[in-house]
Amino acid sequence: MNKLRLAIFSSHSGSNFQAIIDAIKEGRLNAEIACLITNNSNAYCIERAKANNIPYRHISNKTHPNQSDYEKALMNTLREFNVNLIVLAGYMKMIPPSIIKAYKNRIVNIHPALLPKFGGKGMFGINVHKAVIDAGEKITGATVHLVDEIYDNGKILNQMQVEVLPDDTPESLAQRVLAVEHQLYPQTLQLIAEHKIQLD
Ligand code: GRF
Repeated sequence: MNKLRLAIFSSHSGSNFQAIIDAIKEGRLNAEIACLITNNSNAYCIERAKANNIPYRHISNKTHPNQSDYEKALMNTLREFNVNLIVLAGYMKMIPPSIIKAYKNRIVNIHPALLPKFGGKGMFGINVHKAVIDAGEKITGATVHLVDEIYDNGKILNQMQVEVLPDDTPESLAQRVLAVEHQLYPQTLQLIAEHKIQLD
């Protein structure tokens, strides 16, 4: 694979997007961010793209109400920027099957738990940490996995653990897991860049 040209998909803050920007700047990740794609025109991740001269596109079912136009807009953008790896980072929409097919084994996601536990529909954001605490887990963490047609189901590529503390709230746990995501994602992308993690 040539140098990684990443399309970052983000719906909100984009702190994982920022962690990837920083890792590239600091020479810890040998990759280029070709573009940001967001479904949310008010998302702070757009500010992060602007501050780092990264092209961005707002593509959603609001900008493209017709499903096939929406999928064409995504595909055209990915081609326009010669993307070879799609990186979902706090992206709240399902990737259309047409894109998953075109980018087979070239879409990764980060999930704030140790999949296959605490994954699947509805398991995102604070809900994940609430479920982990309610289940009395002592260990949680973050997972980078390949994306396929089923939520949080693709091949697990890398994981990092986080201890659940007795006095943890979902919010305090979420904060510590997010900090681990910011280490795990750039590290995993670099292992992919070095072919130490095989995607196929
Ligand atoms: C967080 O819940 C994180 O665990 C998950 O997506 C959400 C937002 O992340 N990956 P970000 O700050 O927008 O990267």
